[in-house]
Amino acid sequence: MQRLTNKRIVLGVTGGIAAYKSAELIRRLIDAGAEVRVVMTKAAQEFITPLTLQALSGNPVHLALLDTEAEAGMGHIELARWGDALLIAPASADFIARLTHGHGNDLLTTLCLAARCPIHIAPAMNQGMWASTANQNNIQQLETNGIHLIGPSSGYQACGDIGLGRMSEPNDIAQILADSFLTGSLTGIRVVITAGPTREAIDPVRYISNHSSGKMGFALAEAARDAGANVTLIAGPVNLATPGRVNRINVISAKDMLAATTELLDTLSLSKNPVIFIGTAAVADYRPDTSATQKIKKTQGNPNLTLQLIENPDIIAAVAQRIPKPFTVGFAAETQNVLDYANDKISRKNLDMIVANDVSNKDIGFNSDLNAVTIIWPEGNKTIDIASKPIIASAIIQQISLQL
Ligand code: PMT
Repeated sequence: MQRLTNKRIVLGVTGGIAAYKSAELIRRLIDAGAEVRVVMTKAAQEFITPLTLQALSGNPVHLALLDTEAEAGMGHIELARWGDALLIAPASADFIARLTHGHGNDLLTTLCLAARCPIHIAPAMNQGMWASTANQNNIQQLETNGIHLIGPSSGYQACGDIGLGRMSEPNDIAQILADSFLTGSLTGIRVVITAGPTREAIDPVRYISNHSSGKMGFALAEAARDAGANVTLIAGPVNLATPGRVNRINVISAKDMLAATTELLDTLSLSKNPVIFIGTAAVADYRPDTSATQKIKKTQGNPNLTLQLIENPDIIAAVAQRIPKPFTVGFAAETQNVLDYANDKISRKNLDMIVANDVSNKDIGFNSDLNAVTIIWPEGNKTIDIASKPIIASAIIQQISLQL
């Protein structure tokens, strides 16, 4: 988290049970070398006292827009100019709605309007509120406006529900904020990422597929975008919203994914900008030889059905054969001998880097919010212990930018 050293962070705290976590967040930011000034909404003060956050940040806490004494110390416009980043954690549904619509009816929304530095929000709310159409529309609009989303994560909630809406852990928020100061490391670079599973049709109603959710690929798309790249996701069938300011091409089968990849890379090769290709997708290695045009019916007295499978094209190997060759990063999903198989794949597929993950561990990898990886490149390797996929993604993007 060295990138937070001497950084000035304005931390906005809004009303919600997760406000207690902002005390720990301040500690994490200060431990990492940042200077923190806290702004609390009226509702936040119902959950945690300004005195606590003042003691932890070592600075007076800003509470009201129309406070002559506070304005005499550091006025709200001055405070907006002071910050290298504005972080709102927790960001309640109400605050998110007001931010989306450009309200300036309290100190924090006014600061957001006046700020010229990057704004990050770490939402925290009940899972139903998070999923509501109104809130999702607001989030999409904020991302389009260039506001960075951190989390939320999923799990047990204070109200007893389980689902997406918990504020990300303070350590993760501090790490993502630190990584955001990397912005610029991929400026001018085009990044193409395959994500999710492929589906290989057996007949019009059945297919062969796998458990990939697309989360790892989508997290990489956000991290690459935040590092300044122009990003395109080529996504298999997944149930994820497109991150703001990321292009997306939807595909179904491995053959579709190869066609979309080839077409896009052909277009990108017309410009001189460097290209990075990251193959996160869990591409089906085999597909049914033929896909029946009508639903295959059960035949009485025949308990067996034999499917003839044939090999799918290897997309990443084809990318690595291109001239000029994109900087090509593969993933290796293995259940045993993880590093040996990954090392074999990096040379067999002619890759510049490979990210190995052990998918035998049910807590990480496929369809989990977490992962743990070893990044391998010809001259070295780096292991990242279990962490959220956005954290892993930032570390991978950072390593890629160092290898370019
Ligand atoms: O999507 P999530 O739920 O977040 O899960 C993330 C993940 C586990 C899917 C991801 O971290 C991961 O490991 N992705 C690679 C999965 C995979 O197919 O691994 P592989 O070892 O079989 O393939 C090696 C590489 O070749 C991969 O980069 C893969 O995209 C690529 N490949 C494989 C086969 C093929 N026909 N074409 C390819 O391009």
